[in-house]
Amino acid sequence: MDLVKRPRRLRMDGRVRDMIRETRITKKSLIYPIFVEEGEGIIREIPTMPGQKRYSPDTLPRALEEAAEQGIQNIMFFGIPKHKDECGSQAYCDHGIIQEAMRAGKKYVPELLYIGDVCMCEYTSHGHCGIIKGDSVDNDKTVPLLAKTAVSQVAAGADMVAPSDMMDGRVAAIRSALDEAGYIDTPIMSYAAKYASAFYGPFRDAAGSDNFKGNRKTYQMDWHNRREALKEVDTDLEEGADIIMVKPALSYLDIIREVRDRVNVPVAAYSVSGEYAMIKAAGAQGMVDETAIIAETTTGIYRAGAEILITYFAKEIAQMIDEGR
Ligand code: PBG
Ligand code: ZN
Repeated sequence: MDLVKRPRRLRMDGRVRDMIRETRITKKSLIYPIFVEEGEGIIREIPTMPGQKRYSPDTLPRALEEAAEQGIQNIMFFGIPKHKDECGSQAYCDHGIIQEAMRAGKKYVPELLYIGDVCMCEYTSHGHCGIIKGDSVDNDKTVPLLAKTAVSQVAAGADMVAPSDMMDGRVAAIRSALDEAGYIDTPIMSYAAKYASAFYGPFRDAAGSDNFKGNRKTYQMDWHNRREALKEVDTDLEEGADIIMVKPALSYLDIIREVRDRVNVPVAAYSVSGEYAMIKAAGAQGMVDETAIIAETTTGIYRAGAEILITYFAKEIAQMIDEGR
């Protein structure tokens, strides 16, 4: 055949395939989320997220070292307090669980970057992401508490804060509170386009925040919407967000791409607990090749435009990178 173009030419040799690869993932762009629980001597399996565990501040450093040994550089903490109350006071307590985890991390594994998830759902007795009024969350009562939470996390050592509550105006409030406290150089990674997703199910079990009534649809976004994500992103950038996040990842690749093409800041994607659990479950049953599925889905998220990935598979991905997959 007399063909001018033979695309297969560049697929014939593995070294050429490696050379022309368009999407390359680096370990340094991964963020590994870790659950920390108030108490001592805790290393507790999370049934809905096989392979993930909850640690107490004393057992945490070993887990952090392990991640660092694999080349992971960035950690995000979620806290599980002993006591919950109406106003989530353990979220902004100077000796709250995230704050203590920050101190332990900074002390024993200082080379890692520590990011605090800023929200109230793990700390409120009703399980919602803020102060309850009627059957919804009171935006303007919640925002100052989120700002207070962010400041206390940074005071305890957080290198970056990531508000996940979806209240209006929280980025601006957190920025000005951090600035006022002198933390002008601490970046905010905002969960800007966060959808009211069923994919958070395993996380809520892991974080003990599955006790809430109703749903989160009055604050998290309706997943039928695309334009609305752009509005959220624009608003957070105007309020001073440094990094923008889209969450979840796999069902929202179109949003990741659109946001990437639109803004001039780094874009992060959060591959959430339900995505992790589905792959783990199918892998454990031998229905799919787990490692290959992790590689392909992860690459898809980066190819869609994410430059930063928050994932429970961070250690597995680090290993795949070492193996050149
Ligand atoms: C808390 C928070 C959630 C997640 C991250 N921060 C749960 C929720 O909003 O209900 C989900 C993470 C995951 O599923 O892995 N606001
Ligand atoms: Zn929350």
